[in-house]
Amino acid sequence: MFQSTLSLYTKRRSGSFFKNGIIETGRALRNSSTFNLSSPLRDKTIKSILLNKQVGNEVKVNGWVRTVRKQKQIAFAEISDGSSLKGIQAIIPSEQAKGLISGTCVQLKGVLVESPGKEQEKELQVDDIHIIGSCDETYPLQKKRHTNEFLRELPHLRTRTKTMNAVMRLRNSAILGFQNFFQSQDCIQVHTPIITSHDCEGGGEVFQVSGNRSHPDRAKQTSSPPAPSEFFDHPAYLTVSGQLHLEIMACAMSRVYTINPAFRAEESLTSRHLSEFWMLEAEISFLDGLDELLDFTESCIRQTTKSIAESSQDDLNFFNQWINKGVNSRIENVLSKDFSRMTYTEAIEILKNSSQVFQFEPKWGNGLQSEHEKWLASEYCDGPVFVTDYPKELKPFYMRVNPDEKTVSCVDLLVPGVGELIGGSMREERYDQLYKQLTDCNLSPEEYQWYLDLRKYGTVPHGGFGLGFERYIQYISGMESIRDLIPHPRYVGHCRL
Ligand code: 4AD
Ligand code: MG
Repeated sequence: MFQSTLSLYTKRRSGSFFKNGIIETGRALRNSSTFNLSSPLRDKTIKSILLNKQVGNEVKVNGWVRTVRKQKQIAFAEISDGSSLKGIQAIIPSEQAKGLISGTCVQLKGVLVESPGKEQEKELQVDDIHIIGSCDETYPLQKKRHTNEFLRELPHLRTRTKTMNAVMRLRNSAILGFQNFFQSQDCIQVHTPIITSHDCEGGGEVFQVSGNRSHPDRAKQTSSPPAPSEFFDHPAYLTVSGQLHLEIMACAMSRVYTINPAFRAEESLTSRHLSEFWMLEAEISFLDGLDELLDFTESCIRQTTKSIAESSQDDLNFFNQWINKGVNSRIENVLSKDFSRMTYTEAIEILKNSSQVFQFEPKWGNGLQSEHEKWLASEYCDGPVFVTDYPKELKPFYMRVNPDEKTVSCVDLLVPGVGELIGGSMREERYDQLYKQLTDCNLSPEEYQWYLDLRKYGTVPHGGFGLGFERYIQYISGMESIRDLIPHPRYVGHCRL
């Protein structure tokens, strides 16, 4: 039976798997000889050439000229294609290097030879050079180091710098590390909406979404059209967090996570706030309590960091050498030491009893300021610290109230140099208690009936967390400003491209 099906496909010789207009799946697909698992892309990346090709091999290199140094007989050029920190050093006969300047896009053919230099093992002896895209003399990225502020004004070009190149690869490794961790825990990746009708955190720092209401067909659709600024039948916002939608999923799928953009209209011009950032959020049902959530969160950070340390050694060494001398010890610390844990009440006592002079006096009932957070993690704990059980009044309505009725079962993870990296909590799963919290927070139980319903129809103890993705990259790269950890930073007064 299988053989006859296969021969039918072969007779068609079209390479497609359509049979009577229906796509057939299963054994026929898996056995098809038309599948070619080797790379469909014809040329190799510089990463692959440096890793897999030997001295004496003929190779073809594509990339952009990062630097050129011209001598009488030969020119040295560093070619980069973004695939790895190291570019390839090309040795080009002078007459072929005419017109070659930083920024030029080239294809080089030649032979790999042993390099006499200390910087690299192999270099490319160029036989043939093809300029794919010449570069104008006004190219603004010259060999000297540029300030991050200058580069932010060149969002279309700054990814060509070594630092931004490395940041992008670190983001890539981190996403992969997180994905692998969650998949290993049977968590399902889901997608939560960007446009929502709720301000999850209740802080009111939302961007409102409006649409074009002028189209004549729109006016006909409703007898009493909403205000001209409203596209939907209800005010809508860009999401500040996918948590509430994630809870819907967790109450059906048990363990879920998402990696989504989040938007906050905070007017905070600081090195750790963006108006648009990426958040990794997880929501887990059937939790035994906050301790289990902390264990899970710690494992997530440590395993992901371990995988990045393994896959991105070159990039991390680059950050350690050029950006922040503490990067390698920071990573080592995460891998080798358990995270500290303390309650908010203990943290306030520690801050009060310290000899450190703070601008804001630490006081029970007040939020922890950035200076408190950084001191606790960097100085007092010398590593990441979970601070738990904050006063109820400081936190959103959805957090589970503790038996003392003054605090909630929640956590902030604070890390050296950055401060708050993660916010999370056990969620209030008791219907009556949640109803009370909604009314205490002046929120309408009718608006949140769907959220209450989740507690009415088979409620479950659950909890989760949100991690600021750029803050995590800031932590492991040691970069000064969060604005340089995302390709296109948005903050008050700044939205380029
Ligand atoms: O602490 P937050 O506000 O927690 C929540 O939004 C929860 N609903 C998450 C959850 O439990 N699913 O935000 C989570 C994290 C913060 O700890 C911080 O790292 C990051 O998001 N974050 C920001 N990152 C960059 N710029 C901003 N303006 C940020 N605001 C929060
Ligand atoms: Mg928070």
